[in-house]
Amino acid sequence: MGDVVTRSVVHGGQVHQVAKTLGRPVSSFIDFSASVNPFGPPASVLGAMQQSLPSCGHYPDPSAEGLRMRLAKEHGISSDSIVLGNGSAELIRMLPLALSLRQGYVAGPTFMEYEASLHLAGARCTYVLATSAEKYAPPLEPLSLLVGALHSGSQRAAYKNAKSSTAVFFCNPNSPTGRVATARSLRRLYRQIERAGLWMVIDEAFIDFCPSHSLIKEISKARRLLILRSFTKFYGMPGIRLGYLVGAPETVATIRRLLPPWSVSHFAQEAGVAAVDDVKYRQRSVKFMQEERQRFMTRLRGVPGLRIIPASANFVMVELPLKCVTASLVSRLARQGILVRDCQTFSGMTQPALRLAIRYPRDNNRVIHALKEALRDI
Ligand SMILES: Cc1ncc(COP(=O)(O)O)c(C=O)c1O
Repeated sequence: MGDVVTRSVVHGGQVHQVAKTLGRPVSSFIDFSASVNPFGPPASVLGAMQQSLPSCGHYPDPSAEGLRMRLAKEHGISSDSIVLGNGSAELIRMLPLALSLRQGYVAGPTFMEYEASLHLAGARCTYVLATSAEKYAPPLEPLSLLVGALHSGSQRAAYKNAKSSTAVFFCNPNSPTGRVATARSLRRLYRQIERAGLWMVIDEAFIDFCPSHSLIKEISKARRLLILRSFTKFYGMPGIRLGYLVGAPETVATIRRLLPPWSVSHFAQEAGVAAVDDVKYRQRSVKFMQEERQRFMTRLRGVPGLRIIPASANFVMVELPLKCVTASLVSRLARQGILVRDCQTFSGMTQPALRLAIRYPRDNNRVIHALKEALRDI
């Protein structure tokens, strides 16, 4: 565990910039760097957006009531425990302010926006890191020890004043590692966090690929739990910008007050309803991803020099040989039209590693072949 110096946040999905630098069209790249469902947005979503075109002469419903009601029904929770955002990234930015956080403990290495948002709000960010030696298994044990220590008698006096301004951030399944914590183990950690009077934020941006691990249905019994969800990854619609946060109604109301009015467009709201309604797309996506993930990981295991980290979502993290210069490998692949995510830009990541989105089998075979060749030349 330790404070990590903030670095500027780098994200995957930089296909436009890379295409410009290399002077090639965007369409000539296969993008494994952004972990988005290869099916792309459901046809039902595109249809719903087209149908809603005439509505662009009006402001969208600022409370997004229709979509909130649909989500509430889907999850079996109340609609006033849901707030929508222009992507879940917008909600992450609001969280430290809304909760008046002074300290965040982040299970890392992970998505860098928690750290950035904490720092922007003037709060401290401390990582509790999963390790390469344990194949990045979620750091539940060290987090539990930490929460126990914070709650213990020796620290009680100082901590009493600060406890309500402390949150634990946990991404499940985690990006970039791909590891998932079971609902059971997270429930146990949450109970401990609640007893200690802290907040717990679980980012479930990728949970639709393994929904049995979600705690969303339990939100009404968990007043100090906040869950983030995104339409981006599972519904393959990063350009639409739609995410939501679920929590106790009074906390949700505070976040809503901080958001700009109309931050979720009418198109995004209609797209969200159509996506949630599209049961077939969801079933097809989960089935495809389960099968292709298995096949992809098996093939990756056959690439000499790679160490495969067990994956549960729509991407796989692979560790590279220590002597490998990741940035050079990433550039070499880009010149071949293959974009991958260099994981060394994540705070707390000590090993050279790549994150590979799982795409259609033909594309996946191409990245495997390219990696084999590149690693042979090292
Ligand atoms: C773990 C995680 N959470 C949240 C987000 C933000 O997603 P969006 O703002 O598109 O909903 C991302 C995007 O990369 C992510 O990886």
